[in-house]
Amino acid sequence: MDTAKLLLNGEEYEFPVVVGTEDEVAVDCTKLRGTTGAISLDPGYGNTGSCASTITFIDGEKGILRYRGYPIEQVAEQASFEEVCYLLIYGHLPTQAELDEFRALVTHHSLIHESLRHFFEGFPPNAHPMMVLSAMVASLSAFYTGTAEEEDVNLNIIRLLAKAKTIAALSYKKSVGQPFIYPRNDLSYTQDFLHMMFAVPTEPYEISPVLDRALNLLLVLHADHEQNCSTSTVRMVGSSQANLFSAISAGISALWGPLHGGANQKVIEMLRMIQADGGDFGKYVNMAKDKDDPFRLMGFGHRVYKNFDPRATILKEAADAVLEELGTDDPQLEIAKNLEQVALEDPFFVDRKLYPNVDFYSGIIYRAMGIPTNMFTVMFALGRLPGWISQWKELTEDPHMRISRPRQVYTGAKERPFVPIEQRKEEAREKPEFVTV
Ligand code: SDX
Repeated sequence: MDTAKLLLNGEEYEFPVVVGTEDEVAVDCTKLRGTTGAISLDPGYGNTGSCASTITFIDGEKGILRYRGYPIEQVAEQASFEEVCYLLIYGHLPTQAELDEFRALVTHHSLIHESLRHFFEGFPPNAHPMMVLSAMVASLSAFYTGTAEEEDVNLNIIRLLAKAKTIAALSYKKSVGQPFIYPRNDLSYTQDFLHMMFAVPTEPYEISPVLDRALNLLLVLHADHEQNCSTSTVRMVGSSQANLFSAISAGISALWGPLHGGANQKVIEMLRMIQADGGDFGKYVNMAKDKDDPFRLMGFGHRVYKNFDPRATILKEAADAVLEELGTDDPQLEIAKNLEQVALEDPFFVDRKLYPNVDFYSGIIYRAMGIPTNMFTVMFALGRLPGWISQWKELTEDPHMRISRPRQVYTGAKERPFVPIEQRKEEAREKPEFVTV
């Protein structure tokens, strides 16, 4: 199988076939338009590969996820988030000496420029933390311009990893009106984040090992997921040679959408709605099946996983363990489990291969940790940061990198002469509704 044949307008064309490490097959279309005059059309890119990558492998049919070849189940069980950052960004598991050096660098770059702190004063109190995170990450490029030279790139990668958690914690403190807690160099990445989030100057804060372990697991499970919407956004922006901070800021904005990383916040809001409605989850399953009802079971379904999402499986078990270790129960966890059970037995979901995804159980754990709902997607972004960085690095180090510029099929008006305004007549047509503020 080394070529693919296309018969178009009576002509036969051959295109090379690319086979990946795990025998995935792709038709190389780089010369499609040049040889046939035709383009491919694939809204949502469900059948289109944007790149070859060595970072993450997903098999959606088998529920497989591997970071640089290591199965997510083993990585989740054994690796610290800093190890996963190093693995994804630099391509191999760090030795103890490499990890110590990396940790020290990230730790010692956790402070943000004092001028950046004043940016927060301009945001309204109810500003969503995802907006704040995206704006503040983009603002880092005002302080750290750097060049495309390797040492600058590596330093900016360290700065971004280190300062994103400080910015995230600061946006939380700003939203609750508490004083900002500075990072501490004697703490690990996850301990430092918990301390900046929950410590207050008026009393000592003891970092719970349970919360520390749970946070590490959550960040590790979110670390990368090949060419999802936000990662593709990072690659798109990076392909124009915009700087790292701008590319990642764009990825944060893409992740915010409720169909993507914003789903974890929507899951908890959905479970809360079902709980307030007497726990009648069957009613909501039926709403999700009703074509005339825009309601969807948030946290269900996936473009790639047509079997279970291995991260959801791990998080479902972790939710039980974390709640038990914290000595709290959460009626919404039972609703979530019942919802999953009913959906997985319902032909509508079975036929469409809709299973719980990473967002379905993560919110239960975030809530148990005391993280507010509007910070859930920020937590997803912190986890995904090494993935975005590694994908941006792979793209920008590719000597054959080209700017991403998809084509289109035009279906608008044919050529017509411009009409001067005095000749335009009122026509019966749908007019935009402008809200008068
Ligand atoms: C993430 O890509 C990644 O890797 C993403 C991610 C990552 O780590 O980066 O895994 C993280 O974004 C997870 C997804 C979080 N989003 C949600 O939980 C929102 C709810 N899910 C959906 O909206 C949907 O399933 C998507 C967006 C996740 C996937 O959308 P697709 O692939 O475009 O699928 P689709 O919308 O075409 O749905 C196919 C069918 C449709 O029904 P029919 O038109 O065939 O009759 O399934 C139905 C949909 O109506 N459907 C759902 C549903 N999801 C799909 N019906 C009810 N509830 C749902 N959740």
